[in-house]
Amino acid sequence: MKFFVDTADVDAIRELADSGLVDGVTTNPSLIAKSGRDILEVTREICDIVEGPVSAEVTALKADEMIEQGRKLAKIAENIAVKVPLTMDGLKACKVLTDEGRMVNVTLCFSANQALLAAKVGATFISPFIGRLDDINLDGMDLIAEIRQIYDNYGYETEILAASIRTVNHVKEAALVGADVGTMPPGVLKLLAQHPLTDKGLDAFMADWAKTGQTL
Ligand code: E4P
Repeated sequence: MKFFVDTADVDAIRELADSGLVDGVTTNPSLIAKSGRDILEVTREICDIVEGPVSAEVTALKADEMIEQGRKLAKIAENIAVKVPLTMDGLKACKVLTDEGRMVNVTLCFSANQALLAAKVGATFISPFIGRLDDINLDGMDLIAEIRQIYDNYGYETEILAASIRTVNHVKEAALVGADVGTMPPGVLKLLAQHPLTDKGLDAFMADWAKTGQTL
């Protein structure tokens, strides 16, 4: 499973980049607004840090304007994945941009049928939003499982990018149902490494090691 970090915070990305755990980055207009930075400038900086796909989202609502913005975003770096919303216009833009050989991430997916459409127009990634479905008492993980089955039924190569991940359990469950990628806030990625028994065991090893008086 690939891990993307869902942030436009360059310091947070830099801190995790050396871990070998970051396969890409996703941003959206809300995350750009939170960064307080210019979209082109901050996205370029992220692309310099991370080799894998960096999703940058269009802000237009009409297909032709999305295509224009997508081409502009794609000029930032080779590893840009243009993010378009799952609307009819977004799907049209996806088709044109993927035909031009660009990576496209279709975002704001909340149903299996929407995911089927994204695969049909050749999306590189489909982003089903787990957390936002859970927020309204639906099951985000059921959606990931449905999309997995549909894509496997027809051999679609669009990668399932589990998005709106809020907890470490979301990561585990998305991995269990076969998501190709999980995008998560940096804090969730760091929490994946934590376990109280690891800490307790390490404390005991360190205490016993100190008693030996040895150095290594
Ligand atoms: C995905 O690409 C989105 O940027 C993100 O995962 C949305 O997460 P949220 O629902 O926590 O805002």
